[in-house]
Amino acid sequence: MLVFENVREMQKWSLDQKKAGKTIGLVPTMGYLHAGHLALVKEAAKASDIVVVSIFVNPMQFGQGEDFEEYPRDISRDISLLKAENVAAVFAPSARDMYPVGYSTFLEVTGEMTNKLCGKKRPGHFKGVTTVVSKLFNICIPDVAYFGQKDIQQVIVIEKMVKELNFSVKIERVPIVREASGLAMSSRNVYLDEVQKEAALVLYKALQYAEKLINGGEKDTAVLSKGIESIVKAEKLAIIDYIEIVDDVDLANVANLSNIKGSVVIALAVKIGSTRLIDNLVVEV
Ligand code: PAF
Repeated sequence: MLVFENVREMQKWSLDQKKAGKTIGLVPTMGYLHAGHLALVKEAAKASDIVVVSIFVNPMQFGQGEDFEEYPRDISRDISLLKAENVAAVFAPSARDMYPVGYSTFLEVTGEMTNKLCGKKRPGHFKGVTTVVSKLFNICIPDVAYFGQKDIQQVIVIEKMVKELNFSVKIERVPIVREASGLAMSSRNVYLDEVQKEAALVLYKALQYAEKLINGGEKDTAVLSKGIESIVKAEKLAIIDYIEIVDDVDLANVANLSNIKGSVVIALAVKIGSTRLIDNLVVEV
């Protein structure tokens, strides 16, 4: 497995692979890999000749007072995990190489889609994500790129960017991987102690409750949101950031499920202690 730390070398290698007729599957990550990331890698390995995993804690997508400095990092552990998978190359650049002094080019999906849900409390976050992801696409030249459904707003924003800017890359959403307890895998789970981990189960519990109501015929999203709220509020350590029921394509709010053809996203952000957790369910209606 090759490890590239340099942007130019990574790009040259990717171009050589393309010239040799190989297809590239890219898994962009910020490292501290867990089973959720490895599920993306396995999906990529099924469909592409070559799998590239990027590991870069992107400073541009963290706001002031967010956890950029504390974000967990363990590149040697990540590399050994990836060696056990079918990965041809890891791209682990420095921030200075990605954003040299004087860097001033950004890519932003504007409007409601990036201002609601996580974007409301994290202004500039999605601009940082789309900027780095477009750079990764230019450097690693993937045919397909894999993103977890866990960050559903991120995938939807990237899908819109790819569509509207005519990137020739296919975006694949990979379902959420959960611990046996139901907790969605996240690098940030490392911030939780055992009591908080137990409390964090309330996110999935509330989502499952909403799904049960939908399967029982409930269409009114105000009723669904209220049901979710009452379950989360019963957990003393949990503070709700948002509960949103939105369209799977453009994140538009949905008042009644009868108005939806296809899938609806039930998205939840909850603070447990100082850790903000997100989770969601995509439900066919
Ligand atoms: O989901 C992540 O880990 C990051 O937001 C991504 C897509 C790698 C961009 O930095």
